[in-house]
Amino acid sequence: MDATEQIKPSFPRLGQPAPAFEVQTTQGNLRLEDFKGSWLILFSHPADFTPVCTTEFIAFAEIAPELKKRNVELCGLSIDSTYSHIAWVWNIERNFGIKIPFPVIADLNKEVATLYGMIMPGESKTETSRCVFVIDPNGILRAMIYYPLTTGRNTQEILRVIDALQTTDKHGVATPANWKPGEKVIVPPPTTSDGAEERMKAGFETKDWYFSKKAL
Ligand code: BEZ
Repeated sequence: MDATEQIKPSFPRLGQPAPAFEVQTTQGNLRLEDFKGSWLILFSHPADFTPVCTTEFIAFAEIAPELKKRNVELCGLSIDSTYSHIAWVWNIERNFGIKIPFPVIADLNKEVATLYGMIMPGESKTETSRCVFVIDPNGILRAMIYYPLTTGRNTQEILRVIDALQTTDKHGVATPANWKPGEKVIVPPPTTSDGAEERMKAGFETKDWYFSKKAL
């Protein structure tokens, strides 16, 4: 992008294409379209060499093998430089014995941060908040989770969201509160009166016409 061009702030919406980007990372230059065919968890952190972010990088590295099994790639981002990112991931390996397996975007000009609305001026005008964007293999934004600067993310919850989305796509169902893989799922409610009558006889675990569960 031309340095004189203004980046327009935008607010991504679920169900819409994720904003395209072309960036420098710790693993070379990457474009959003390089992830086509895989799920992508794009996540931002406030700054390198900070303690909560360090615990999060370790936690993301720890779930990376589980994500791989689900065809999910990880990509971190902050507005620090690649030199800073490289020094920090080396420092994490040295201090904690954890190798960071995913690329980290150096968004020095805040281009991606602005496109994805990752900077929350009420929290910090200079740092990206703890944002998580789940992008599906077709480049569609499927989930967005935001945490404040002072709260480290729960990576098991992020894994759970991936499992829920993939279950929805595979089986055409929804998942209830606190659902975990192996538990019963929600059969989408009927939308007509006849459908409601049929639902009562359909053989699901039905509490009422709009509330049915089934095992997968
Ligand atoms: C941290 O990662 O420790 C942190 C970063 C920004 C604000 C507060 C905490």
